[in-house]
Amino acid sequence: MVEATDDTRAEDLVFDPPAEFAANAVAKGSLYADAAQDRLGFWADQARSLLHWHRPFTQTLDWSEAPFAKWFADGKLNVAYNCLDRHVLAGNGDRVALLWEGEPGDSRRLTYAELTAEVKRAANLLTALGIRQGDRVAIYLPMIPEAIIAMLAVARIGAVHSVVFGGFSAESLRARIDDAEAKLVITADGGYRRGRVSPLKPAVDAALESGDSTVEHVLVVQRAWPDDEELAWTDGRDLWWHEEIAQVDWEHEAQGFDAENPLYILYTSGTTGKPKGILHTSGGYLTHVAYTHRNVFDLHPETDVYWSTADVGWVTGHSYVVYGPLANGATEVIYEGTPDTPRPGRWWEIVQKYGVTILYAAPTAIRSFMKAGREIPQQSDLSSLRLLGSVGEPINPEAWLWYREVIGGNRTPIVDTWWQTETGGIMISPLPGVTAAKPGSAQVPLPGITVEVVDDKGRPLGNDESGLLAIPEPWPGMLRGIWGDPQRFIDTYWSKFPARPTGPVYFAGDGARRDHDGDIWLLGRVDDVMNVSGHRLSTAEIESCLVSHPWVAEAAVVGAHDETTGQAVVAFVIAKARHADEANAEGATNELRAHVASSIGAIARPRELFIVNELPKTRSGKIMRRLLRDAAEGRPLGDTTTLTDATVMQAIADRLKN
Ligand code: WTA
Repeated sequence: MVEATDDTRAEDLVFDPPAEFAANAVAKGSLYADAAQDRLGFWADQARSLLHWHRPFTQTLDWSEAPFAKWFADGKLNVAYNCLDRHVLAGNGDRVALLWEGEPGDSRRLTYAELTAEVKRAANLLTALGIRQGDRVAIYLPMIPEAIIAMLAVARIGAVHSVVFGGFSAESLRARIDDAEAKLVITADGGYRRGRVSPLKPAVDAALESGDSTVEHVLVVQRAWPDDEELAWTDGRDLWWHEEIAQVDWEHEAQGFDAENPLYILYTSGTTGKPKGILHTSGGYLTHVAYTHRNVFDLHPETDVYWSTADVGWVTGHSYVVYGPLANGATEVIYEGTPDTPRPGRWWEIVQKYGVTILYAAPTAIRSFMKAGREIPQQSDLSSLRLLGSVGEPINPEAWLWYREVIGGNRTPIVDTWWQTETGGIMISPLPGVTAAKPGSAQVPLPGITVEVVDDKGRPLGNDESGLLAIPEPWPGMLRGIWGDPQRFIDTYWSKFPARPTGPVYFAGDGARRDHDGDIWLLGRVDDVMNVSGHRLSTAEIESCLVSHPWVAEAAVVGAHDETTGQAVVAFVIAKARHADEANAEGATNELRAHVASSIGAIARPRELFIVNELPKTRSGKIMRRLLRDAAEGRPLGDTTTLTDATVMQAIADRLKN
């Protein structure tokens, strides 16, 4: 199992919430007692007080068909109405919703009234294109306001979006379109990334080129395109967003849908080659993200300027760029580009420009700024910041302390938030005005959430024991299934531990340990899922991609420690005998790395790739990834006695040393 790292020494460092912060905090310590006294009643209260229900619910949780949960099942609501119209009706139409900053320096500001109007029009456009309740719409857009408008418009008419990160390849996009049987794709000509136009529409064309697809139309937002290049166009199928939207009505009345109406599918890597379509529904999800966004980020919507740097292509972009903040009527910054374009301090210039008060970012970004040096953030005035958040991977205490000192001016609390695509919203986190913060630990389950550290039989462990993270009770934002694959849903998440009288226990796939105070430390994935820059990648998916290359006979992929990105992809490949010459020629490893980037996406490109003669295997034929990881991380080799051929591993390790 997982071992504690040296970092655990940091558990003795503690930062109390500043007194002034605690005095004005949204979340008080009494939340814990309230939730503990009547957990379901607590969630029902949250759902009623945070959301507008078209029809009030009378039933909180139906767990009778576990693990298929229903929350607030007899209630009806409209997710987009909750994020838009009701704020306007409450007199906050002039409050800014989106402060959008394009990478080249252009910007747009949309108030709640303006955003509501745009979404109404887009909802009418979707209806005009034949999209109905339950239909799936794929969204493949850069970080521009239309990404948010499109998501909310889909939600408004009760349809289901599947956002595909713009960095994914045509092949990955096609697989997701097919799995969800999407009728419509919403994309842009291109977006700006690293100072250049990064094309998107051509990937959609390539995705739809081969064979029949369920896609009837491709709606294209005009954003960025090189002057000297032609944009391919398929008449009848392709439509310009700006031309179509000009033809529809501005008025649209939001209808209430069942609380369990599907809201979105988001694909995430699992332990097999095929990504899983994680399904989220409406009422429970929105309750969970609104509650956590308000309490964990201490949101004062009248005065705060919130910025989550996540892309809408990931779950953080769904829960804490779109649904949580907008349900709470927040004012938020949206940024299109990379953190260091065109200048290394771009992020910090944005904080200063908009007076950002709450910043939510990934440890990998913090570590790369750390590496670049504190002079860069110090060129900007960061004094508006009052709270910092971290998500996506464990934040090492060193990065935590740097974040607090250099970015937070030694004054801001930090919330290290643990959650997953599957959990929908934050599960473990300090409450910033209540919890004394411990660098490197996500600390405690939020009020209303139950989390345990258990052994592999599902038995709760004591303090100072390492084990697996488990969630014994259902929660409102939980995934409702894997799209089209109920068996995989049961097998992956609900079958690891024996069921209890209260029902099955959720297996998160993370190792964890409680320290002597009972605070939770996350220890990384225990399965074959890697975490690169806070993004999940599957070893099996990259292996099967490598094997699809004509030169490759066999491949093994491991996630090796990387100072900046947390983990990095390292691949070991055996070439087919008849292609040995090509595979050993100069440039071959780059060709194979590029093959992974073009078939999955640039984030999956191996940092290193080694052509080897053999892979270390057990006598039963299983690849010993642990040994490959040891070698990739330059550690002395662990126990090799179970290998069929112990010399194989030594040969690989020697290769790596050179
Ligand atoms: C990891 C991202 C430690 C974890 C929201 C989890 C974390 C996976 C943290 C989910 C954290 C996320 N500390 N590890 N604060 N947050 N993780 O689905 O391994 O992209 O299982 O969701 O990221 O990644 P996902």
